[in-house]
Amino acid sequence: MRTPGSSVTSTQEHPSEAAHGVPLFLAHHPAPPGSYADEPVTEPFRTAWVQTTRFGVLAGVTLPSGLAPVPDEALAGLHPRERQLARAERGRRQIELVGGRLAFRAAARAAGLDVAGHALVTDAAGAPIAPAGCSVSLSHKEPLAVALVGKRGEGSLGVDLEGGARDRSSIASRVCRPEELALVEALPQAERWPDVMVRFAVKEAVYKAIAPDLGRFFGFQAARVDRYGASGYAVTMFLEPADPRFDVEAEVLPLDGGSVVALVRARRASTDGSSTESHALASRG
Ligand SMILES: CC(C)(COP(=O)(O)OP(=O)(O)OC[C@H]1O[C@@H](n2cnc3c(N)ncnc32)[C@H](O)[C@@H]1OP(=O)(O)O)[C@@H](O)C(=O)NCCC(=O)NCCS
Repeated sequence: MRTPGSSVTSTQEHPSEAAHGVPLFLAHHPAPPGSYADEPVTEPFRTAWVQTTRFGVLAGVTLPSGLAPVPDEALAGLHPRERQLARAERGRRQIELVGGRLAFRAAARAAGLDVAGHALVTDAAGAPIAPAGCSVSLSHKEPLAVALVGKRGEGSLGVDLEGGARDRSSIASRVCRPEELALVEALPQAERWPDVMVRFAVKEAVYKAIAPDLGRFFGFQAARVDRYGASGYAVTMFLEPADPRFDVEAEVLPLDGGSVVALVRARRASTDGSSTESHALASRG
């Protein structure tokens, strides 16, 4: 089976954030000194871990199961505007909205950013509006919400969390380009869903990184994900000829239990192939 891997080599740099133990720790990374990560913890809305990656800081926050209203102690960790938005929601949407924003705050804090005055609201397409100079992406899937926070001048970020025990390889033909599907179908049955899951996660992260800049929807056929070496991933974009070109980098972090977090950073490329990200971002304001 292809086990999702990662070329991220950095380790936990914020042990205090992870000192509560986690239900889903980043697999294959040593627990930070002084943490209790081996002890299962069920307390929701706590920072499970904070990981420095080459794209920025990634934080995971535990989410409860069920539909119960988010307790006031968790809401207290939000900006007043976020709290107001959360109180207008119910059930899983409320839980995810809160968890994503708590993860954003944990990642930003670990990155040394003061985001106390910034409410992480979304634009008309649903993309998070990051503080000036930052790129932010969120994903949530029980039992975690994750946030990736990086410097905007280094590129636009996307993150996606996928996993769960259920085999969903039936979505392969929707997620994969024909050449990817041929590779998936050559795998033994048991290896197909893990392979498709990684492609799915990377592509959704690609969407989150690029769609706000592109300004339109694009589907799964617009990207191909190739695996190289033990843990490298390459992304090739197939947007419309008139669209800007993007250079896309991807990482995949394995989590306990077979889930994965895909991290993507996209930069506009000039016609000579060099990155024009800082120019493109500057022109975006
Ligand atoms: C938008 C989409 C990627 C969200 O993914 P999801 O698995 O449904 O949900 P996740 O929990 O992973 O992510 C949700 C977060 O994505 C972010 N998001 C939503 N729309 C977004 C957009 N247009 N651009 C960037 N980020 C977006 C939000 O922060 C949201 O969290 P929030 O509502 O709490 O702020 C997905 O619903 C979708 O439309 N996919 C089809 C498009 C696609 O993936 N194309 C493949 C291109 S190769």
